[in-house]
Amino acid sequence: MDMIYVKNLSKSYGPTKALDNISFTVKHGEVLGFLGPNGAGKTTTMSILTCLFPPTDGTATVAGYDIYKEPIEVNRSIGYVPESFTLYPDMRVKEYLRFVAEIKGIERKKIVESIAKVISDTDIADVYTKGIKKLSRGYLQRVGVAQALLGEPPVLIFDEPTIGLDPIQIIAIRDLIKSLSGERTVILASHILSEVSQVTNRVIVIKEGKLVAVDTPKNLMKSMDSSGRIIVTVDGDESKVNKVIKKVGGVKSVKKIDESISGTTYHVDVAQGKDIKGELSKAIIEGGFDLVELRLEEVTLEDIFIKLVTKEKED
Ligand SMILES: Nc1ncnc2c1ncn2[C@@H]1O[C@H](COP(=O)(O)OP(=O)(O)OP(=O)(O)O)[C@@H](O)[C@H]1O
Ligand SMILES: [Mg+2]
Repeated sequence: MDMIYVKNLSKSYGPTKALDNISFTVKHGEVLGFLGPNGAGKTTTMSILTCLFPPTDGTATVAGYDIYKEPIEVNRSIGYVPESFTLYPDMRVKEYLRFVAEIKGIERKKIVESIAKVISDTDIADVYTKGIKKLSRGYLQRVGVAQALLGEPPVLIFDEPTIGLDPIQIIAIRDLIKSLSGERTVILASHILSEVSQVTNRVIVIKEGKLVAVDTPKNLMKSMDSSGRIIVTVDGDESKVNKVIKKVGGVKSVKKIDESISGTTYHVDVAQGKDIKGELSKAIIEGGFDLVELRLEEVTLEDIFIKLVTKEKED
């Protein structure tokens, strides 16, 4: 069964189309990365799924419940970690978690045990008796995660959960999300592809409210491989080397980027789909130059993300 089913969702704020006909599904036990730059529509989508407000158009179900007809059941099925967590500043963490446990309808005799579990999962024992408004940003974020986990909801939605966390906590949250996969269904909204790719094997990329890609991080990488750049370091007269490289079929441009005692380094941009490493090294060696290094520039996940969300420039 699709635990999350989204069909043709649109949301307009006056003239702004925050979401434009988005459809996707998430299977039971899957962790889905939901990626997009600032303003892409991530929080809008999460807000609709948690029934904070209805879409302008389209439908969605969560755990089989309809967002229009069964908002209470939808909410019961979701643990939501909002982007910024500001509720109930005057409560202490322990009062707040107890309050949430009661709202979520956790059995009385199980409340203490349930709270102890989420405190340990999110490592907040140190601030358990503190007032919420006195918490640091990172601890506040962790309390946000703790309340979402209470009651073991089948679906968890994290909206940028690692913003404001220190590196050790980022790893802890990542491990926590990983440990949820298989059992729970998770959406992780983020603008950091490398972070998402560590916990998910499927990502959706949205841009200006529209879906631009649905794939594995691996396949997204592959799709970029064809338009390569070669980094080559050669010891020899620069203008002559330049000429030799430019003569190789498939080379679009050559640019010097660095100079060291071992030689001069160039970026060689190559036409789409051409593998010219062999020909290039042959041409350099046959030209009588010393080939110090030649390699394909590694495509990073960040490169892919930027390429997907920025308009293609003609060159
Ligand atoms: N209450 C609102 N009124 C008017 N426009 C809004 C409102 N909320 C969001 N928007 C607009 O909708 C679009 C999508 O916003 P949304 O918050 O969903 O983006 P996001 O992907 O979560 O971005 P971020 O990475 O910055 O959190 C933006 O253009 C935003 O300005
Ligand atoms: Mg957002």
